[in-house]
Formats: sequence, C-alpha cells, structure tokens
Amino acid sequence: MKILVTGGLGFIGSHTVVELQHEGFEVVIIDDLSNASIDVLEGITKITGTKPHFKALDLKVKADVQQFFEAHKDIAGVIHFAASKAVGESVQSPLKYYENNINTLVYVLQELSQLTHKNFIFSSSCTVYGQADELPISENAPVKPAESPYGNTKQIGEEIIRDACKVDQSLNSIALRYFNPIGAHSSAEIGELPIGAPQNLVPYITQTAVGLRDQLSVFGDDYPTKDGTCVRDYIHVVDLAKAHVVALQRLIASKNKSNFEIFNLGTGKGSSVLEVVKSFEKVSGTKLNYKIVARRDGDVTEAYAETTKASNDLGWKTELTLDDAMASAWKWEQKIRNK
Ligand code: UFG
Repeated sequence: MKILVTGGLGFIGSHTVVELQHEGFEVVIIDDLSNASIDVLEGITKITGTKPHFKALDLKVKADVQQFFEAHKDIAGVIHFAASKAVGESVQSPLKYYENNINTLVYVLQELSQLTHKNFIFSSSCTVYGQADELPISENAPVKPAESPYGNTKQIGEEIIRDACKVDQSLNSIALRYFNPIGAHSSAEIGELPIGAPQNLVPYITQTAVGLRDQLSVFGDDYPTKDGTCVRDYIHVVDLAKAHVVALQRLIASKNKSNFEIFNLGTGKGSSVLEVVKSFEKVSGTKLNYKIVARRDGDVTEAYAETTKASNDLGWKTELTLDDAMASAWKWEQKIRNK
C-alpha cells in the first residue's frame, strides 16, 4: 500500500517513514526542504534498505498539489507532518505560519477527498491544552486559547478536519496530540537537525555537551513542581513514529469508532528539566554546564498525558524510557558533529 508522508524528511516524519517501511508500506515523501536536509533520505535508506520515493514539492502551490495527487490516485493514506513549528518565530511571523500550516492542510484535504481511500493522520500538539486544570491531561480536557500563532494553527487544523469529516463520512481522520518528542533512531542514521540555536531542551543539552553552546539556561526553578523546574512528558521519537503506523492501520482496517478521532501521544510520566539533565549526565557519563535563569515567557508549569485512550483504543503504548531517548540523542549529536 502506498502512503504519502508530507514533511517526511523532518524529525518525526523521517522516523515514521522508517516504521512504515518496516511494516511493509510503500512510502512517498513530499518535502519542500525548507527545514530538512536531502541527506535524511540516505539515512532512511541505510536503516531500511529501501529508498522511499521522494518529491521536492511546496504544498503552498495548489496547482502542484493537484498535479501530485493526479499522478498518485492509488494512495491508501496520508500522514501530514509538513508544517512550521517554531513557537517564537510564529509570534514574529504569524501570517507565514497561517499560510504554511493552514493553506497547505486545506489543499491536501481537498485533493485527498477526491481519492478512493481517504485516510488522514494529522500532527497535532499538546499545546492545544495550554496549562490544563487537571493532570494527567486527557483528550477530554478543554482546548485553551492558543498562546502562539503556531499553537493556533494546530487548533484551527483540528477544527478544519472536524468540519471536513462532518460533511464527508468517507473521510477518516485521526489527530495525534504529541507531548514532547525527543531522541533519535538507535542507529544514529537519522535524528533531530535544528537550524541555528535550538529552542528545545534536548538538542540544547546535547549541543552544549558537544561544545557547540557554552551553557544550558534552565528557564526558572521557582515553579510549583517537584524541584521547581517545569515538567513535561518526553516521548521517544521512535515510540511516537510507531503510533502513527498503528493509527494509520486502524483507519485502513476501518477499526475507528468515528471518522474523526483524537489521541494523546505521551508516556504518561512527567519529568522536570533537572531530571532530564540528570538523565543525560547518567547516560553520557559527562557533566553538563547549566545555570538557572529567569522563566521563559509562555511556558506552562506542568504537562503530561493521560494515556488510557491510546492504550485501550489504539493498542499502543510507549516502550522506551527517558534514558533510552537521551542516550540516542547523544549518540546522534556525536555522530553529526564528528562527520
Ligand atoms: N527549557 C530550558 N532551557 C532551554 C530550552 C527549554 O530550560 O534552553 C525548558 C523549558 O522552559 C520547558 C522545557 O525545557 O520547561 C521543555 O521546553 P521545550 O522548548 O523543549 O518544549 P516545550 O514544552 O516548550 O514545547 C513543546 C514543543 C512545541 C509545543 C509545546 C506545547 O516544542 O512545539 O511543546 O507545550 F508547542
């Protein structure tokens, strides 16, 4: 079966392509290479032994999207990762984010609705919950007003899919709300490749340890949490990737309970920033240079997933630990710097 993966050379996309190929799917990747390297294609091929089909295509160009789908009418499902994802940048350039994340979603859905098999997986985010009133956060927790245009594109994206599914019962969608994806493939052939200074915790840690950054700033130690630093649900990207394959198989086998479903993807366990630092120091055997600084604007105090729905309905749960993720992130960082 042929599966389209948009943004398939990105961090989560590339790991998902590997897991799809492991399960025997034929994969076509679309990526505009705006935030990914073509070398990722080689990394995927080294792991699986099969080179996925690849088309460099900008999903903002509607005519190109139409032409692509015209040539691939046999697609059995679409996993849509392609989107911009930097929270800070989205505040500076909101219209870029609405164009990149919303227009492209609409164009892909319009073309998908012409196909025989209308199976669609959407990359959503736990950011839709904001600072939730109850922990762990279940899928029924209210969606809070978005803190950033990026977060808003995820909320609007879910609403667009919900509306499209209402009028077309043959369109089947699952939105996956990711908590904090980290780590890399155990082979170190693919991983996270942030451009410029990383905004996220784990790449900042590994870049500091490898000598690219002087020091990690820990944003605040006066939160009402176990050690004063923020708590997040860090999920290994390989576990996350496998969830996409399971979700897609659910749609293909028509096992979904409604034609628009939402699942949290997390471990269910909250880890503080200092616990992540400790895990890194343990698995790497190095001391990390860090200092506590002021809080970062917009950070929620604590977020971790209620995982019951994913476990019961999808039959999926995480298998890898925080230490596994930190070890794989470190192996990957060392490999790309020693090239
Ligand atoms: N942190 C630091 N120092 C850093 C970077 C991060 O202390 O240099 C802290 C943050 O304050 C936060 C934690 O590490 O407490 C995790 O921060 P990340 O930036 O890695 O992740 P976030 O939880 O802020 O953001 C993630 C995704 C976003 C998404 C958001 C939803 O990266 O795309 O979750 O909550 F919108």
